[in-house]
Amino acid sequence: MVKAFAPGKCILFGEHAVVYGHPAVAVAIDSGVEVELTESDSWTIEGMPFHSEKHPHISHILNDVFEYGGRPLKIAIESGLFSAAGLGSSAALSNAMGAAVLRMMDANAELDSIKLARIGHAAEAKAQFGRASPTDTATSALGGCVVVSGEQVEGTEHIFDATLHTPEGERKWSVCQVDLPSDLDAWLVLGFTGIGSPTGEMVAGVAKLLEEDPSKHQEMDSIAMITQAGLTALGAGNLEGVGMAMDACHEKLQNIGVSSPELDALVEAVRPHSIGAKLTGAGGGGCMVALTKFPQRVAEAIEVAGGTPLISRLGADGVRILS
Ligand code: MEV
Repeated sequence: MVKAFAPGKCILFGEHAVVYGHPAVAVAIDSGVEVELTESDSWTIEGMPFHSEKHPHISHILNDVFEYGGRPLKIAIESGLFSAAGLGSSAALSNAMGAAVLRMMDANAELDSIKLARIGHAAEAKAQFGRASPTDTATSALGGCVVVSGEQVEGTEHIFDATLHTPEGERKWSVCQVDLPSDLDAWLVLGFTGIGSPTGEMVAGVAKLLEEDPSKHQEMDSIAMITQAGLTALGAGNLEGVGMAMDACHEKLQNIGVSSPELDALVEAVRPHSIGAKLTGAGGGGCMVALTKFPQRVAEAIEVAGGTPLISRLGADGVRILS
């Protein structure tokens, strides 16, 4: 039996703009997806017969990537993430599955988190109609704080490059990491609206908006500037600066039409107890995130406003084999 875990992610700044080569900053969160594989007499997933066409993500990793030819597997998946909610649950599943299959095939295999991030990115791109940045998969694979951008951002450590052929042409991203100050005295509280939102559709909606109204590219440029300011503040442990950048980022995301009344309501509800708050991920539904020194108070405010809270530290470890 092997067990692997990969964390979810929270984008602090730069979602959507990163698809166009602007920078994004994301952190791995404490919750994630655990995959357990046990050799068995028949293929099952969650106690049901496994049909590869119903689980294209998983069968792609098993068959196309690792060319698994061993005994049938009993696949058990446990997720601590809301799905289709902007927390990178499919990236975490892909990374945890990849790590578990790798270990199943070779007990001495070294975990190659860059390879897993690349595999996950290709799968995400398929699911998002060819438009996906490597942010989710890289953050879940590498852990900590990840900066993804068309060009390497100063002060970050380069980890790998990713490329993708998108409907708008060839895109290239530099995937980097930054060390977070060890004494960051703040928590993230995620608030799920209860409304699932497919990332592919949100990304396609933004592409259509930019095509119909090219002036909206200015909003993307503004998000890029805010992201840069937010990253500088984060690196310096300047929480007020991080919070201001999060608030500003939310406004810009509203301007490109990816917020929703439910997300805005949760963001407003947490403001009195937060340093900053914004939607996180693709938007439309899904989650918002607050940076705060009072996680319980923020979690209560989210519940009172009709959302479901999830508290996390900033920058958990990346994908890992548990047993
Ligand atoms: C989704 O978590 C983040 C987006 O920027 C899409 C992507 O980066 O592929 C909306």
